[in-house]
Amino acid sequence: MTIDLAILGGTPAFTSPLHVGTPNIGNRTVLMARFEDALDRRWLTNDGPFVKEFEARMAAKLQVRNSVAVANATVGLELAIRALGMTGEVIAPSFTFIATVHALQWNGIRVVFGDIDPTTHNLDPTAVEKLITPRTTGIVATHVWGRPCAIGPLRELADRYGLKLLFDAAHAFGCSAGEQPIGGFGDAEVFSFHATKFVNCAEGGAITTNDDELARQLRFMRNFGFADYDCVERLGTNGKMSELSAAMGLTSLEAMDEIIATNQRHYADYRQRLASIPGITLVDYDSQFQQNYQYVVAVLDEARFGLSRDELVQVLHAERILARRYFYPGCHIHEPYRTLEPNAGLTLPHTETLCQRVLLLPTGTAVGVEDIAKIVERIQTATAHAGLVRAALKSRHA
Ligand SMILES: Cc1ncc(COP(=O)(O)O)c(C=O)c1O
Repeated sequence: MTIDLAILGGTPAFTSPLHVGTPNIGNRTVLMARFEDALDRRWLTNDGPFVKEFEARMAAKLQVRNSVAVANATVGLELAIRALGMTGEVIAPSFTFIATVHALQWNGIRVVFGDIDPTTHNLDPTAVEKLITPRTTGIVATHVWGRPCAIGPLRELADRYGLKLLFDAAHAFGCSAGEQPIGGFGDAEVFSFHATKFVNCAEGGAITTNDDELARQLRFMRNFGFADYDCVERLGTNGKMSELSAAMGLTSLEAMDEIIATNQRHYADYRQRLASIPGITLVDYDSQFQQNYQYVVAVLDEARFGLSRDELVQVLHAERILARRYFYPGCHIHEPYRTLEPNAGLTLPHTETLCQRVLLLPTGTAVGVEDIAKIVERIQTATAHAGLVRAALKSRHA
């Protein structure tokens, strides 16, 4: 009997690759009409009408006073960190996308890595408190997978030690903490509208805050520090969002509810199909509150599944299912942090374990129900024939 797995000589499940984060496109006709409008107006950037509309709609959705659109979340983080006056040392997770900590390092700040709570995958306030020194000026915490950080305890720590608190909300657009939408917590929050995010501008981001003066400064800073035509009031950079990106963002925003519904259906489908397979568990979302379900996150237990996360990734890649390891290998293992903080791993046991176990599966509007059935079937076959798979992988690498 042949076992239908590409790694064992079978036919790949897909003819073309299925990626994690394939962009959702929204209504093309509406998008093209917006592009035409921008071209007709010959107003392509510099705080144009689409950017203003995008900011206003976002602020209303997130119930926050200010939304400052920027070119991407990385520049948004860099600007927010500088505007908040963070210097010296700032505590941040290693279990996050590299941009979170690069934005600190880029500002000349020492990144002090804090461990995560192994259940929530978010920065652990108890670990954070142990890392506070007289040089600490802030905390940057990521709402990983859109699940809210321990906002209350982090706010309490920040207040007690006089620290600034910034949330990397790149994953969390459309999510809430309790009844309140993510966007108005901490001193500011930063969203990403990169093409791989479920609401996207191709490239884009936003800083949201209830602090009007902070927002005013951020508006100058994203535009070279210009306060008026001939007046540069402070150091700035070019972090502006273009009209074409905002047109994409507005169109994407209009499709948001539909995309979330698709993501939620896919998530439930994966969950139901994977339930009977030992050693592979999906990260939970609290359906009582708003979630975007943009990530299908599996955590692998090698002893029960029969293969390691990395072995399963190789099996799936052979099937052209481009599952992704997140946030592998952990920011502290990447340069320049590996050199700057060679002992960071000693205090990051939960981060190091999780980085070896997490796997993201494809979802979003580019994925069909029948695709999920095929993906899970291949996962099922891989675990059922783990011994053969492992031997094939070994001989591949011999
Ligand atoms: C947690 C996190 N922070 C920051 C970023 C950077 O976002 P951008 O690509 O918009 O700069 C990302 C992008 O994937 C992210 O996942």
